[in-house]
Amino acid sequence: MSCLNCCKTAESPSFRVAATTESVKRKMSRGYITFKSLAAAVSMKTGSSKHRQINEQIRRYGEVKNEIRVFTYNEISEAAEKFSSDNLLGEGGFGSVYKGYICDQHVAMKQLNRQGAQGTREFYAEVLMFSLVKHPNLVQLVGYCTEGDHRVLVYEYMANGSLENHLLDLRDGKKPLDWYTRMKIAEGAAIGLDYLHSSADPPVIYRDFKSSNILLDEDFNAKLSDFGLAKIAPNGQGTITSRVMGTFGYCAPEYASGGQLTTKSDVYSFGVVFLEIITGRRVIDTTRDVEEQNLIEWAQPLLKDRKQFSQIADPLLNGEFPARGLFQALAVAAMCLQEEPEKRPDMDDVVSALAILSGSKTEEKEVSGEIVKPSKHVESFRAAESMNQKEQRG
Ligand SMILES: Nc1ncnc2c1ncn2[C@@H]1O[C@H](COP(=O)(O)OP(=O)(O)OP(=O)(O)O)[C@@H](O)[C@H]1O
Ligand SMILES: [Mg+2]
Repeated sequence: MSCLNCCKTAESPSFRVAATTESVKRKMSRGYITFKSLAAAVSMKTGSSKHRQINEQIRRYGEVKNEIRVFTYNEISEAAEKFSSDNLLGEGGFGSVYKGYICDQHVAMKQLNRQGAQGTREFYAEVLMFSLVKHPNLVQLVGYCTEGDHRVLVYEYMANGSLENHLLDLRDGKKPLDWYTRMKIAEGAAIGLDYLHSSADPPVIYRDFKSSNILLDEDFNAKLSDFGLAKIAPNGQGTITSRVMGTFGYCAPEYASGGQLTTKSDVYSFGVVFLEIITGRRVIDTTRDVEEQNLIEWAQPLLKDRKQFSQIADPLLNGEFPARGLFQALAVAAMCLQEEPEKRPDMDDVVSALAILSGSKTEEKEVSGEIVKPSKHVESFRAAESMNQKEQRG
């Protein structure tokens, strides 16, 4: 199939914008908006040529950065070999995901099974969000299909599936991830989150950071997927009061109990996933003894006692990790998991810490004869380390 014949780009999306609703206008005037409410202004009619209106809508919030293609259902169905069960990659809350081949590339196709306006809004939210962001640590949306009642999202194919598959759901004789691969995955995911918080224009709160939403390519590079719940952040900083969405266990306490949403809510969720990466345990695991079912509650006392650290590490690592690296990784997780959001680090600090843990950067390196000082987070680890040592001695 020739790519040129089969695909239109998002220059001509096949949906159109209806008159902006009052509620969307209100949210705009308050300076924040969800992609879902933005999508509420999009009429569900298909086949329209009023693509300029949707592009105008997107441009109110930023620049269109991705050329997203529009596929017919025939093209989608042919590419996924009529959605044969052999091509099934997985199932999520949105629907089933199938492997396919279209426009000279392997793709993953997500078929919406949720009926009604709610599901359709999440679908458009995903398309709009992907129009506004582009980064190597975010999965790319190749295109979508809205023909008739069909709603299909077409993503770049990630050969190693999700982090959850490799960490918490080891099947088919899959080898457990080694320490440095785990650190590299955490680093990639942190870079993706940092991009959304600090570099994306407009800045974005991701809201659904969890191990099943971190996908891995053939070299185990991490990319974030699923933006249906993402929110545009007010200048990247302020607090939004919002209905609690996201996944139980990963939500920050202030968000879960009071709907207070900031970029620091994502930092907390990162801490949860990072602890899953270190321990190989699911945040909520009802198959364990009651006192071990909640990962955070189980880990809290262990995190305070250095002698217990080796008990926290995933037994599947077989003790193959640097002792100092484990300490520093646990220090990062503990900082991200602090109850008070303002005490949590920003994602750029987390990224610098992980660059050292993954080995992509050394702590002190000589660049053209000059010693580069370790960044502030490394100093804060050192402070934490010496505090801990004093505690142990006392
Ligand atoms: N781009 C992709 N490339 C390869 N596999 C993918 C891709 N996207 C999803 N998958 C596979 O499909 C599975 C289901 O993904 P999906 O995002 O629908 O559900 P989920 O993340 O488990 O839950 P949720 O609906 O809450 O996001 C993933 O675990 C992964 O194995
Ligand atoms: Mg997902």
